[in-house]
Amino acid sequence: LHFKELAKSVMVTSRMMKKAMANRIKTTILYATETGKSYAYSLILQEIFNHAFDAKVVAMDQYDICNLEYESMLLVVTSTFGNGDPPENGEDFLLFSFINIEHGIHKIKSSRFAVFGLGSRAYPHFCAFAHAVDTLLGELEGERVKEIGEGDEMCGQEECFRNWAQQVFKVGIIQGGGNSFDRLLIFNLEDANASLKSTKFDKSNFRVTVSDVQVEPNYVESKRSTILIQLEKKNSDVLNFQPGDHLGIYPRNDPALVKALISKIRDATDDSTVVRLEYWDADTRLPSCTLTMAFSRFLDITTPPTPQLLKLFSECNVNEEQSTALRILGQGESEYEDWKFSNNPNLVEVLNEFPSTQVDASLLLKQLPLLQARYYSISSSPDVYPGEIHCTVSVVTYHTRGGDGPLHHGVCSSYLNSITDEEEVPCFVRMAPTFHLPTKEDAPCILVGPGTGIAPFRSFWQHRISQIQKGDRTMALLFGCRNPQQDHLYKDEVETAMKQGAISHAYTAFSREEGKPKQYVQDVIMNDISEFVFDLIHTRNGHFYVCGDVTMAAEVHRTLKDVLCINGGMTPEQVEEYITAMKSEDRYHEDIFG
Ligand code: 2AM
Repeated sequence: LHFKELAKSVMVTSRMMKKAMANRIKTTILYATETGKSYAYSLILQEIFNHAFDAKVVAMDQYDICNLEYESMLLVVTSTFGNGDPPENGEDFLLFSFINIEHGIHKIKSSRFAVFGLGSRAYPHFCAFAHAVDTLLGELEGERVKEIGEGDEMCGQEECFRNWAQQVFKVGIIQGGGNSFDRLLIFNLEDANASLKSTKFDKSNFRVTVSDVQVEPNYVESKRSTILIQLEKKNSDVLNFQPGDHLGIYPRNDPALVKALISKIRDATDDSTVVRLEYWDADTRLPSCTLTMAFSRFLDITTPPTPQLLKLFSECNVNEEQSTALRILGQGESEYEDWKFSNNPNLVEVLNEFPSTQVDASLLLKQLPLLQARYYSISSSPDVYPGEIHCTVSVVTYHTRGGDGPLHHGVCSSYLNSITDEEEVPCFVRMAPTFHLPTKEDAPCILVGPGTGIAPFRSFWQHRISQIQKGDRTMALLFGCRNPQQDHLYKDEVETAMKQGAISHAYTAFSREEGKPKQYVQDVIMNDISEFVFDLIHTRNGHFYVCGDVTMAAEVHRTLKDVLCINGGMTPEQVEEYITAMKSEDRYHEDIFG
């Protein structure tokens, strides 16, 4: 069936079904999300389930936990945040459910449930929060209709979700959740997807202007470059955030790429074509905008297309050979994974590779994922720079195909690197629930942040500068970079902060200093300051902060355990317990990125 006919037939079927099923079983779809993706997936699930059930979507933090025991069918879609933690709007759910279990009340024996987790296998504790919810609902004696589903954003997430959703729906029907109509299974995910074509600008969003961009330090010659971007909110000096919080920035796609894409669309020779994107958040609507605006600001045109989209491309490709190749890729199997891994192709590159694809604007508007906000650790303190937010941004460029392919630019970092003073940047603050300075202000801190991992710590030392008069405190900074000439970020600022007494100790690990052995931050911890670290953490009840990439954070974690074993004479089991206690006392903080 043609897409539109299929959509129509589903609509008619579902209207009939709606009439036929006055007594549809109620289904609650709970979601917890950081970026909005779990919410988008929940809406797709609702669309599917509404063909046979009466499904509503509720955010976990809006859900009254007392209703759990009355649910007939409970579906949960959630991501996992940071170090296996719940997204912010899922925290209380876990807590209250634990209380339920501890008190042995509110069993959910008559509830059926299934859980789907979203995450990235690049991080440790993949889908950990989804697993925690799945286990909890099992412990509350709910009936699991389907094993937990997992979607890895690096590989086939949407595919996994669709399969899982279809299976849960089928099982739900077979087990008597809805009437057993085979035809109901011809639901149309694309249709649901189409209603999601929008982007969400929170009410808490604000626009800032760029007041300054500095290359920090000045090593433009090098392939790696880091910039300090200073954003300023005009007409207001109040910005509600704390050091450690993140800034979400809505980027803009590269104008040259947008132009190239529009030139390849069959029915859009004029880039001022006006289109309308529907919002999926009922409260906010996007006015009609030009196609250029849609591809610049709202839709993701750089992430490699999904197998679904390639399948659709194969259908509108007029060259048999190309069409076959696209169909094979569209199966989403190893050919697709290899092709994607090696080329990481953006949309324009795909259309160049298969030039006989006659693509219409409407197809892309319906199929492309939304352009997501990118998060940066805020690098300034509101006490030192009121009305401003600074970010330390590493400008990402790389060649695909292991170095032989075309040059790719990171969407947001290149955008930030290209904007001019006074240009507006749409953004919002996201609280980092576990990455703030200690509430007990004189608690000693160890800050470990190699590379751009130093970003949030700049806001920490700035905050301490504004607090200096309140007494002498220990704040040890451990930074790592390649060599003193190349990428020693904030060297001068750290020296000044030391003179001012905001940083008490600073150590640097150089990994590529000429004539010296390679040193990483964890080597410095183990070889040079092991006793000091132990003393600060154990004897003085200090706080340990790590910011940076996953591998480094895992290695630093392991090293800290060794430090505790060696200096405190603890067994490995005792060390595990010790670290767990540190976490529950909010003394071990991680801000990890991929
Ligand atoms: P490298 O590039 O020489 O490997 C900031 O990027 C610094 O972190 C660099 O000095 C980099 O060293 C270092 N780095 C890379 N991998 C690391 C790891 N697993 N643990 C700690 N530091 C690491």
